Amino acid sequence: MAKTDKIIIANWKMKIGIDESLKLAKKLKTKFKSLKGEFVVCPNFLSLLEVGKTLKASGIDLGAQDVFWEENGAYTGEISPEMLVEAGCKYVIIGHSERRKFLMENYEMIHKETKAVMNHEDLTPVVCIGENWDERKTDRRDFVLFDQLQQALSGLDIVGNQQIIIAYEPIWAIGSGTAIEPTEAEYAHKIIRLTLNDMFGMKIVNNNFKIIYGGSINSKNVKGFVGLDNLDGMLVGGASLDADEIFKVAKAVMR
Ligand code: 13P
Repeated sequence: MAKTDKIIIANWKMKIGIDESLKLAKKLKTKFKSLKGEFVVCPNFLSLLEVGKTLKASGIDLGAQDVFWEENGAYTGEISPEMLVEAGCKYVIIGHSERRKFLMENYEMIHKETKAVMNHEDLTPVVCIGENWDERKTDRRDFVLFDQLQQALSGLDIVGNQQIIIAYEPIWAIGSGTAIEPTEAEYAHKIIRLTLNDMFGMKIVNNNFKIIYGGSINSKNVKGFVGLDNLDGMLVGGASLDADEIFKVAKAVMR
């Protein structure tokens, strides 16, 4: 079956444990058999290996929710890009706003993580950016997006076909139950693309980057996002924990 270039990434966060992750992976394996396009699940670290085994040869890819920037050494509690590759991961989420909020991750760390991941051509960073409500309300969103992209990606060498995904996740929409207006997402994605064009040139942006949206996407509101300019897919939290629901989201995006 022909592949579309759209991608759906399911971020299970810390919402389900090992047993539930396995059960969900089994359901998804059956459900997603005939779907075109790229579908990725990101379980917690403890579930990666078992979920990976369950999804082997299913066409569903594995991703992690975080990574450290060193390859090995005395870094208690951390996991390196190389280890993620060994565990079968093809994607890794970097700089999620929940980590920025609760673990004080800053853009210097996000930059180092992204750089480390890009040393592995078969591991794709999913770099999260997005403004908070106060920034949105006071019309600072465009600058915030520009600044976060600069801080995360400045000076990185993008070689060959190394893929990079930018996830636009307005913090105020995450977990709120209400996604932002599709036209607003389209505008933000345009700002992101123009900034990336300035930083890396249009050719590299077209070849190596995808821009996806995340924040309260579900099977009902996803339809409003389908076909928008500069929207290459979705990063889904809550709705990805229900196999039927995430299947409907994916079907709408990858039609
Ligand atoms: P929700 O879909 O639950 O709003 O979460 C979005 C998100 O943070 C994905 O990374």
